[in-house]
Amino acid sequence: MAKRIDVSGLSAYYSNHKAIDDISMTVEPRSVTAFIGPSGCGKSTFLRTLNRMHEVTPGGRVEGKVLLDDENLYGSGVDPVSVRRTVGMVFQRPNPFPTMSIFDNVAAGLRLNGMRRKNELENVVEKSLKGANLWNEVKDRLNKPGSGLSGGQQQRLCIARAIAVEPQVLLMDEPCSALDPISTLAIEDLIGELKARFTIVIVTHNMQQAARVSDRTAFFNLSAIGQPGKLIELDDTERIFSNPSVQATEDYISGRFG
Ligand SMILES: Nc1ncnc2c1ncn2[C@@H]1O[C@H](COP(=O)(O)OP(=O)(O)OP(=O)(O)O)[C@@H](O)[C@H]1O
Ligand SMILES: [Mg+2]
Repeated sequence: MAKRIDVSGLSAYYSNHKAIDDISMTVEPRSVTAFIGPSGCGKSTFLRTLNRMHEVTPGGRVEGKVLLDDENLYGSGVDPVSVRRTVGMVFQRPNPFPTMSIFDNVAAGLRLNGMRRKNELENVVEKSLKGANLWNEVKDRLNKPGSGLSGGQQQRLCIARAIAVEPQVLLMDEPCSALDPISTLAIEDLIGELKARFTIVIVTHNMQQAARVSDRTAFFNLSAIGQPGKLIELDDTERIFSNPSVQATEDYISGRFG
């Protein structure tokens, strides 16, 4: 099958500190890949190299290649802003634009892309809120501030905002860690539905969540504090959680460290 994402020899730095070392991996379209591993092993850093957000951090620098549908995101002449449009991101804490209405939160990216016609905006906003399983809860208060929603609703609003611009890939960094168990299950169900249309990469500390939502799981680890994180093993989720090839993966998933 064609690869949506093809990473080779990727290292990322914060000034002189190498945070991740020589990572190579591929991600297939319309699949969910989970990143797991102990704190500080570089999961978030690696995720942010996949849409060129890493270089926004002062001192943030990358070596290696990330191909998205065969195009190197780090090639000369590639516009990082358009990369971030194609590869959307959902963060750990729901971060709706606080002064904007629910409608405007979802419409913001569409307007930036030049969509102006009111009925066109309304159609896409409705479709995105439905896609994020939020429409029924907010359809009667689209003009109220997004910040007035519950945490779980705000996170689904952020997902609606991210999918409104039709990205190819959706990156999620611990999207449920600030949510209650019910909202967490709602987001997990949603991820299952979204993978029919998008390629999803999710960082999670919750092993059950990784096992429930992902097709493939990547285990990252570092040999010692201060050393760069490495990709230890990437395989079908079922295999990682039942019969991993590497002892360190087994130790981590069975709770022996991390
Ligand atoms: N803005 C930054 N400036 C300097 N170093 C950073 C920065 N962000 C992360 N690091 C360092 O890079 C390494 C990887 O951090 P990263 O946040 O990617 O790990 P993580 O696996 O996402 O951890 P966690 O599970 O705690 O979120 C760590 O050593 C961390 O201290
Ligand atoms: Mg992190």
